[in-house]
Amino acid sequence: MITFKIMDKAKPFIKWVGGKGRLLEQFERYYPNELKKGAIKNYVEPFLGGGALYFSILEKYEIQNAYLSDLNRDLILTYRVIQKRPDTLLDFLEQYQKRYDETAPDKRYDLFLAVRKHFNEQRFEINYKKISDNWASRASQFIFLNKTCFNGLFRLNSKGEFNVPFGKYKTANIFNPDNITAVSHALQNAEIVETAYKGCWTSVDNKTFVYFDPPYRPITKTSSFTTYTGSEFTDKQQIELAEFFQKLDKEKGAKLMLSNSDPTGINPDDTFFEKAYQGYIINKVSANRAVNRNGAGRGKISELLITNYGGSDES
Ligand SMILES: C[S@@+](CC[C@H](N)C(=O)[O-])C[C@H]1O[C@@H](n2cnc3c(N)ncnc32)[C@H](O)[C@@H]1O
Repeated sequence: MITFKIMDKAKPFIKWVGGKGRLLEQFERYYPNELKKGAIKNYVEPFLGGGALYFSILEKYEIQNAYLSDLNRDLILTYRVIQKRPDTLLDFLEQYQKRYDETAPDKRYDLFLAVRKHFNEQRFEINYKKISDNWASRASQFIFLNKTCFNGLFRLNSKGEFNVPFGKYKTANIFNPDNITAVSHALQNAEIVETAYKGCWTSVDNKTFVYFDPPYRPITKTSSFTTYTGSEFTDKQQIELAEFFQKLDKEKGAKLMLSNSDPTGINPDDTFFEKAYQGYIINKVSANRAVNRNGAGRGKISELLITNYGGSDES
């Protein structure tokens, strides 16, 4: 396979809760030296979301193969459309941009509701397994909703309907051809899969860097935000993930990095992650997180960065 380095800088094409854009510089110090020195060329990210880390790593290091996955089926459908049919998607997005801009501000709410309704009704007609003609239109609705809904949230109700309210934005950046083209280039050597995180197992070997960014373990009772897929990511699942981390470490010898929220800022006695990741290196980096609507949730919060290797440096 040909090693590629893209010219344009691809960035996440959606706003995503837990997006790592603002933490990239701080995270870089903790990447394995093997990646920095070119000995690792395989990258795996099984909680992909907006993909900020992937795009940044691809730009800086020689990645030949990537395995990218997430359980959110419409998110993955959209990535696959960008990979395979960026031009068709851009035609749809251009139309949506025009409609949004030409609609009077007091009528945009109706436009938003109409797209949301169509998006929800259309879900039964989609075959998520195989790319087909209706995928590009669905991907454009997914992006439209992400750019116009409240805070770019993704939340499904118990029926599986997207139910985030309108964001009331004066402007919305729906059509961004330069970035969609850059993202499409950045995805050409990637395998993009809709699956739970354990699906990455066979794509990992001892020359792989795996980055896990699971839904945060809520640090306060009211800060729970684990609705990207319509189901919760409970403490039990956090423990199962820690066991999977250990198994990959022991049986595959890959370099592993995992982030999560640091509960000790709120409750110093909460040693959940120390117990779950005993024997591994737990670093703390500072994050400016703005998930909650009330001011209290917007302060600087520590983020945990857990690795199965030490000795990273800034070279
Ligand atoms: C914190 S976000 C990832 C954010 C991402 N790193 C970014 O920069 O935008 C967590 C992601 O995990 C996905 N997810 C939730 N449960 C999952 C599971 N069991 N397996 C795989 N992905 C899951 C969600 O759909 C969501 O996109």
